[in-house]
Amino acid sequence: MIELDGLTKHYGDKVAVDHLTFTVRPGLVTGFLGPNGAGKSTTMRMMLDLDNPTAGSVRIDGEHYRRLTDPLRSVGALLDAKAVHGGRSAYHHLLCLAQSNGLPRRRVGEVLDTVGLTPVARKRSKGFSLGMGQRLGIAAALLGDPRVLLFDEPVNGLDPEGIHWIRNLMKNLAAQGRTVFVSSHLMSEMALTADHLVVIGRGRLLADTSMAEFIRGNSRSYVRLRSPEAERLRDVLHAERIAATEAADGTLEVDGVPSERLGELAARHGLVLHELSPQQASLEEAFMQLTAESVEYHAHDGEPVGGGPAEPVPPGVAAGPGGWGGDWRKKGS
Ligand SMILES: Nc1ncnc2c1ncn2[C@@H]1O[C@H](COP(=O)(O)OP(=O)(O)OP(=O)(O)O)[C@@H](O)[C@H]1O
Ligand SMILES: [Mg+2]
Repeated sequence: MIELDGLTKHYGDKVAVDHLTFTVRPGLVTGFLGPNGAGKSTTMRMMLDLDNPTAGSVRIDGEHYRRLTDPLRSVGALLDAKAVHGGRSAYHHLLCLAQSNGLPRRRVGEVLDTVGLTPVARKRSKGFSLGMGQRLGIAAALLGDPRVLLFDEPVNGLDPEGIHWIRNLMKNLAAQGRTVFVSSHLMSEMALTADHLVVIGRGRLLADTSMAEFIRGNSRSYVRLRSPEAERLRDVLHAERIAATEAADGTLEVDGVPSERLGELAARHGLVLHELSPQQASLEEAFMQLTAESVEYHAHDGEPVGGGPAEPVPPGVAAGPGGWGGDWRKKGS
């Protein structure tokens, strides 16, 4: 278990992490999401005592990292896969870690097997591909057979096979009762991996919710209607007390009414439809809406990034009952 209590980090005037309080529980994969610069890596560094908090505290299985007698046996981490001496082989990199931490030599062979690097174990790591480097970093994290595991963006730059492998590894580690905390910018990736979700923006907690709850609250469907007789269509819907919102491109969006009923209604009134399409609000859009105000680094290509008005807002995501007003939000926000 990892417990954060008011964890805060300032770099001069910059508030990188702002009063974060949440608990990462064992037996689950907890996804840690936020846009670039949200404070994910800073939070993880403080968990490992690589950075001093300005205020607040973080405990690993009830202890401050500094008090852990055998840190590698308690918590394993992959923060930066490139933090390896390139002249050393994978085997010697791990052996060095094992020997300096009082871990048995046999663990080196075991973790090399787990991550699939045994065939290249004697090769210098500077020749490793990005995926091999990530695997070596994960092997180091697993070396002490720790109960708590932290991974900072482990799938960055990996091919689909590598992503699939890491996803299964995390799930298996959690199924063994370990605490697994993994950061990402990708909501869609986390939806497939994480059981629980912690979202931050500009260092602040935005959501602390189960993945199932997040999906339930944000993957509501709606129907898009396009007609050359938009005015009449609006009147017909209005007469049936069906609420429709008009998107920027002139199409109508109807929430909570099956497309069959809408199609039959249009037919009854002899209305021509050019489009009648059920839509699903994507979790990525939901995540962008949630973090829109806290995105620091915008691309300047003429279009706003991070949930700006250029994209029509899916009704399932818009503020209101069942949308963003759900009870999964951070308490007190
Ligand atoms: N050593 C440092 N000195 C000054 N500012 C820092 C330092 N480390 C981080 N920051 C700032 O703190 C903020 C949070 O950075 P952090 O790296 O924790 O974000 P992140 O969520 O991991 O981002 P990314 O998704 O890009 O990895 C950023 O604005 C960053 O510029
Ligand atoms: Mg980071």
